[in-house]
Amino acid sequence: MKKVLILLALLLLMIVSFSLASANGGPHGGYTATTDACAGCHRAHTAEGPQLVKNTDTFALCMSCHGTAGTGADTNVDDGFFLSTRSPSTEGAANTTDNAPLLGGGFANYNGSPVTSEHDVNVALTTAWGNGVNRGVLGPLAGGATFTCASCHDPHGSTNYRIIKETVNGVAVTVTQVDEGASKDYDTEQWPADMSNVCKACHSSYHVTTAGSGSDAAMVATGGYTHRVDMAYNYGGNVNPETTGYLGSFLPLAGADLVACSTCHLSHGSSASMAAGGPADDATPGGTTATDSALLRLDNRGVCEVCHQK
Ligand code: HEC
Ligand code: HEC
Ligand code: HEC
Ligand code: HEC
Ligand code: HEC
Ligand code: HEC
Repeated sequence: MKKVLILLALLLLMIVSFSLASANGGPHGGYTATTDACAGCHRAHTAEGPQLVKNTDTFALCMSCHGTAGTGADTNVDDGFFLSTRSPSTEGAANTTDNAPLLGGGFANYNGSPVTSEHDVNVALTTAWGNGVNRGVLGPLAGGATFTCASCHDPHGSTNYRIIKETVNGVAVTVTQVDEGASKDYDTEQWPADMSNVCKACHSSYHVTTAGSGSDAAMVATGGYTHRVDMAYNYGGNVNPETTGYLGSFLPLAGADLVACSTCHLSHGSSASMAAGGPADDATPGGTTATDSALLRLDNRGVCEVCHQK
């Protein structure tokens, strides 16, 4: 009886550790004691990039698999789509349609058009909007760090959704893994309620969750009145932006009904088009231009109309 119990416990442990490993995806984590995976990204003596990365830098390494010409992953984050024939990886194939746009957007193209804004990890940015400073002001990343793919993702896997790092910009981050383990789904949002935590780590002062923040004079001292986030979508006559939408436009919600940062913004890059010739102050922060769509999901201020329908 005891032996059976021990065997059962061992079996359970194996199942648990196997499912933990597969929750990360690709070569990202779940390593064994004698894994070969390190060699896919590191060289011990002849590395071209710092931290012994085998390509010239972290961006080049990620793109060697995930970029336009990459053959090591089905998720093409450069052009923002999934294609199961790009690589031997089978992850996501069962739940993701070939050529479907990726949830994060694209770094070069999205929905077949060049991006008009992106989280630009290929230039050496060291500051982020509202990072420990007021909204509309740039604050330095922790420890003088440079913005890369590995500022947000842990290539060695993590307990978070989409291997989001457990510490981002010096801030402990939880973005609960609610997706489907090994099968993955790269074209349908299955966001946890705490999805905004990753954005909050670098843009802390944009994360305002108090009711009425759009009219609360106390907000002026931190950069201006601001749209509340992480609340239920319903307000006035708002319809469900995810299921009902407005004239064919939809916006995704986090958890059951929450308006997260990602409801209005894409994580990687957007090809939304913004009308030129707006007000004179139409430059980031506080505005958008034809060449800077502020990672917004829809053209111009389409995001406002999906919920408010004025
Ligand atoms: C998918 C690519 C990838 C794989 C696989 C990988 N690494 Fe890394 N590793 C990186 C990148 C990229 C960095 C640099 C991260 C940065 O730019 O901040 C790094 C950094 C590190 C660091 C220094 C920073 C830290 O996290 O402690 C160590 C140590 C390390 N890797 C060890 C390993 C070992 C051991 C393995 C195999 C079990 C491995 N890596 C597998 C991509 C990878
Ligand atoms: C600002 C943080 C951030 C940076 C920088 C970032 N990512 Fe992401 N990435 C995310 C988030 C958040 C998601 C989840 C998107 C979703 O589900 O809506 C994601 C999703 C992904 C996915 C899954 C496919 C998808 O689009 O949903 C891949 C692959 C990926 N990122 C790779 C990369 C690579 C490679 C880089 C660098 C070129 C990078 N990421 C830079 C935050 C980031
Ligand atoms: C050796 C190839 C390879 C390299 C290098 C690589 N990846 Fe991946 N990555 C994969 C594969 C394979 C998957 C599984 C999904 C797929 O096929 O696209 C994946 C999945 C992911 C995911 C989705 C994880 C999830 O929860 O589903 C993210 C995010 C990601 N990679 C980020 C990165 C980042 C950031 C780098 C650079 C530090 C990187 N990858 C480097 C092959 C690679
Ligand atoms: C690791 C830090 C980091 C994280 C995490 C992060 N960002 Fe950023 N973000 C930046 C940096 C750096 C910039 C560029 C600042 C600049 O233009 O100099 C930026 C710029 C932006 C911009 C302005 C883009 C433009 O072109 O005008 C928006 C919008 C934005 N981020 C939204 C988000 C959202 C939404 C999330 C969560 C999905 C997020 N950020 C997570 C670092 C981060
Ligand atoms: C209801 C939609 C919506 C939500 C939710 C939202 N944003 Fe924005 N965001 C915008 C719009 C629209 C802009 C363009 C500038 C403007 O109109 O103020 C913008 C601009 C930005 C910028 C660029 C700098 C600036 O002030 O113009 C950053 C950074 C940013 N948002 C971060 C965030 C973060 C972080 C969250 C979550 C805490 C978030 N946003 C939630 C709509 C939204
Ligand atoms: C996903 C749904 C959603 C989107 C998208 C959205 N809103 Fe809202 N909006 C809300 C909700 C919910 C509230 C109520 C917030 C609260 O409880 O304070 C609200 C409140 C407001 C208010 C009232 C603020 C106050 O304090 O009186 C204004 C004005 C507003 N939104 C304008 C906008 C604009 C402009 C945009 C586009 C940049 C936008 N909203 C996008 C859901 C949304």
